[in-house]
Amino acid sequence: MLNKNNLLKIKKRRTFAIISHPDSGKTTVTEKFLLLSKIIHQAGTIKSKKSKKYAKSDWMEIEKKRGISVTTSVIQFSYLKHYLNLLDTPGHEDFSEDTYRVLTAVDSCLMIIDASKSVEKRTKKLIKVARLKKIPIITFINKLDRNTHEFIKILDDIENKLKIFCIPMTWPIGSGKNFKGIFNFYNHKVFLYFKDFKTGNFNSIKEISIIDSVNLKKYLSKTEIFILLEDLDLIKSYYHKFNKKRFLRGLDTPIFFGSALNNFGLSNVLDGLIKWGPYPKYRISNFRKIYSVEKKFSGFVFKIQANMNLRHHDRVAFIRIVSGKYIKGMKIFHVRTKKFRIINDAMNFIAGERFIINKGYPGDIIGIYSRGNIKIGDTFTEGENIEFSEIPKFAPDFFKCICLKNSFKQKTLLRGLKQLSEEGVVHVFKPMIDNSLILGVIGNLQFDVVLERLKIEYNVLASYKNTNISHIRWIDSDNIKLLEKFKNENYSSLAYDYDNSIVYFSTSLFKLNIIISKYKYIKFLKVK
Ligand code: G4P
Repeated sequence: MLNKNNLLKIKKRRTFAIISHPDSGKTTVTEKFLLLSKIIHQAGTIKSKKSKKYAKSDWMEIEKKRGISVTTSVIQFSYLKHYLNLLDTPGHEDFSEDTYRVLTAVDSCLMIIDASKSVEKRTKKLIKVARLKKIPIITFINKLDRNTHEFIKILDDIENKLKIFCIPMTWPIGSGKNFKGIFNFYNHKVFLYFKDFKTGNFNSIKEISIIDSVNLKKYLSKTEIFILLEDLDLIKSYYHKFNKKRFLRGLDTPIFFGSALNNFGLSNVLDGLIKWGPYPKYRISNFRKIYSVEKKFSGFVFKIQANMNLRHHDRVAFIRIVSGKYIKGMKIFHVRTKKFRIINDAMNFIAGERFIINKGYPGDIIGIYSRGNIKIGDTFTEGENIEFSEIPKFAPDFFKCICLKNSFKQKTLLRGLKQLSEEGVVHVFKPMIDNSLILGVIGNLQFDVVLERLKIEYNVLASYKNTNISHIRWIDSDNIKLLEKFKNENYSSLAYDYDNSIVYFSTSLFKLNIIISKYKYIKFLKVK
């Protein structure tokens, strides 16, 4: 069962996502990673959203119009003989379930914090999910070249708001105009940065041992050295030492400081990810643990993205490989549909480009074409009947009733909504009492995405009407008779989702809580 040849390849894989609040520097960090891996050779290849010259997934009209990234892309790059799969998350605060799903496909996360803003709302929300899943988190505190909060206060904020212990691995010397460099705790060296006055970048680095006081005095003032030594004393007494086991359990986060724009401090992050970040080990299926070193291929779909080729309505399903090896031309088994298919054109993604690949290993993300028959959460194997049941569906927060502008298009609308719901773009609910269609989303922006995609991909013009629905819960019960009783008594507040599961609609949290306490034998589920 064990495939030793694969083990070496697996140990060299790190699959991770970036968690951050918009504008904290995710695009800039990604670009600098690609520079460090020599995939790109010039800053500015991946432009930040505002410049609109180049956006990673700018194929969707809505992204072009608003200059934001609403979908998730995947980038593979190599660094120090390792392969890093970076799964990008939507950059807008109106994020969708997509972001949550990405977290089911990664083994670790990089959290970016803007040092002038400290912990922000969206980071808090995403870290909550990462913590639930016990995903190890590395933290990069960015923008040290700007005026920042006091560093200790940022760490306090992280510990208090995100309930994770901070372990500083590097420590800044000054900030803003007085930023001089960082001290590295694991090799006890000071890294000093000098601004290149031609380019404005801090790109020449000097490395000095902390005990080499003669050399230090050449570059740092007496006060700077005094403050640094005082800071280091404080940190050593206040924070505990890095403990890999605690990091892997998601209890502690190693902290790195730097400035992505000026390209400093980021190589420490990648070094840390390679040194301590987990390689793909196993995933739990409905029957057993599936180990990455097993010989046979298995993987699950965590994302479906509509393709650029609108004429063919093709879609790319992103599969996270769990075990075995993908080989071009191999026959894989689609567990839900019980069908085998031969895959000749699996793709991987480098810096926004897609390439047909010959091989893929656990931790890698491969894209395969779907003709509408693949759903989020689907499992592929070489024949074994297992399912990875890790992809949750979250109860949406916003609701609208969708109406056709041309009633002849009803069938196409239903087909379009079915596919969009399978992609995870939107939840579609069919109330039991009438023929209306209620859409539910996690971020309001998704409503616009749905209308735009219906128009472009299905030639369907639709609009929205407001609804008074404010909350939904999936309902279930171990007792079928009592479930029927509940359904009879609450018929007008019930609907089916696209998998024919029953949901309960409520017009306020207050009313929902009353119903929950009245029907104790019914399970009201926020996550499906
Ligand atoms: P995001 O993907 O997380 O939304 O952030 P992005 O990288 O687009 O960065 C947001 C803004 O912050 C950009 O400026 C970027 O240049 C800037 N930035 C990123 N890292 C640093 C840093 O270390 N120091 C400083 N001072 N700024 C940084 P912008 O003006 O919004 O975009 P642009 O016109 O520079 O492209």
